[in-house]
Amino acid sequence: FSQRDAKFLLSAVISKHYSHLTDPEITFAGRSNVGKSSLINAVLRSASLVKTSKKPGHTSALNFFSLSSRAHPKSITVVDMPGYGFRSHQEWGKFIMEYLSTRKELQRVFMLVEAKVGELKSTDESFLDLVEQYGVSTQIVLTKIDKLKCADLEKISSKIIDAATEIAPTAVQPQAICCSSRSKAGIDHLQAEILRVCHI
Ligand code: GTP
Ligand code: MG
Repeated sequence: FSQRDAKFLLSAVISKHYSHLTDPEITFAGRSNVGKSSLINAVLRSASLVKTSKKPGHTSALNFFSLSSRAHPKSITVVDMPGYGFRSHQEWGKFIMEYLSTRKELQRVFMLVEAKVGELKSTDESFLDLVEQYGVSTQIVLTKIDKLKCADLEKISSKIIDAATEIAPTAVQPQAICCSSRSKAGIDHLQAEILRVCHI
């Protein structure tokens, strides 16, 4: 991918506003400030297509982007979700639940957890309950690994996968992806995984 291949489509909170988008789709979810928007920019090799912020709660609706390139004949849709754990659960939950329960284009949710935090928080656990309930394939992505010693990463990764699998045994994929938007570690791996799950 390159920035030239990516464009912002729309921002929405109700399904009526995105139901006409029919390309295979992937979504980035996770607690507020975990690095969702930064990671999408890294994947798209763009500095600023997706707005990021030091203040939690920056992204407040579902933001849809389209990715297409000459190398790949089909386009895919990438969704940046608002973070959980910042807005009230009720407010956040309503449109996220509608999205997760009805979105048949959705191939996989990449659920981000900050590597340094090292564990699932209760909001992560609630989200895993939802993806299990709606049968949405979900892959854990450990973020901001530039803040961590490499030696600790494997231990943290298997601890988080184990905990997530216990909550969502059918939804959670057995392998985590470890990334840093800052150092760009793991970005190629994540891109390859996106293409693979979208069958292009
Ligand atoms: P919300 O939209 O509020 O849910 O946040 P978000 O998950 O989209 O996080 P965002 O990408 O806006 O990043 C939050 C903060 O983390 C920003 O200050 C980023 O600069 C920082 N950050 C993001 N990725 C990395 C990373 O890989 N390494 C480091 N060290 N910092 C990062
Ligand atoms: Mg964001």
